[in-house]
Amino acid sequence: MTTIGILGSGQAGRTLARVSIAAGYDVVIANSRAPETLKDLVDQLGPRARAAYAVEAAADADFVVTAFPYRPADRLPVEELAGKVVLDTNNYMAWRDGNYPEIDSGLRTIHELRQEQLPAAKVAKAFTHVQFHERSPVRGPADLLPGVVRLARPAGAPDRKALVVSSDHPEAVELVTRFYDDLGFDAVDNSPLSESWRSGPGTPMWRHHVDGQSREELISNLRRAQRDRR
Ligand SMILES: NC(=O)c1ccc[n+]([C@@H]2O[C@H](COP(=O)([O-])OP(=O)(O)OC[C@H]3O[C@@H](n4cnc5c(N)ncnc54)[C@H](OP(=O)(O)O)[C@@H]3O)[C@@H](O)[C@H]2O)c1
Repeated sequence: MTTIGILGSGQAGRTLARVSIAAGYDVVIANSRAPETLKDLVDQLGPRARAAYAVEAAADADFVVTAFPYRPADRLPVEELAGKVVLDTNNYMAWRDGNYPEIDSGLRTIHELRQEQLPAAKVAKAFTHVQFHERSPVRGPADLLPGVVRLARPAGAPDRKALVVSSDHPEAVELVTRFYDDLGFDAVDNSPLSESWRSGPGTPMWRHHVDGQSREELISNLRRAQRDRR
């Protein structure tokens, strides 16, 4: 049985916990506070979920998701994450997090900064362009589902959508590819992390993130991205 450590219990973390459990995974979830604050959520998620401090979730998991924005002063379980694959869901949103000059200048990507925070972990950008909330505007009952549920399809379905993965570690790309498949998505490898700006907010692929894009469309949109026109 594979246990996913999910650090962050907001919209992204809790929804990813729900779909992961539905796909057959166990989940240990944490926020920035104590596990007691997650009692109601864990009750809703059922017996395959438990709450823990972030450091315990990182230690107990086979792989880990960081579902919170990047901050230079983030308190992270660096030692417990050493050697593990870490899926970073964060997007660089300057309006929310402030500006980082090394990102704005194109010198670094937000995921390279996360990798630097976790030097012995294998960081992968993942799940950044699928919505963990309902569609807006709502056109019908299906749009009330989070995008990650509404857009999921079985392998081989003609309308299956693809999600991007970027990493400096091939084994992280392999893990994310399998995980995406389990959750109902194809994968497009846009490695290394220095190339992950191609799937950031404002890029050609980003314009299709609400209703998704096929593997071929995603590859084409990633190629069309231009550094100075994100
Ligand atoms: N929401 C989406 O649809 C969506 C889609 C794609 C990508 N994303 C990305 O996913 C990330 C999370 O988004 P969100 O909407 O879920 O944010 P959110 O609602 O603000 O939730 C953030 C969660 O992370 C926890 N947290 C913060 N720092 C932590 C730390 N060091 N260790 C453990 N937990 C920590 C917070 O804990 P407390 O509750 O204790 O404060 C909170 O539970 C963002 O970076 C966003 O860009 C979101």
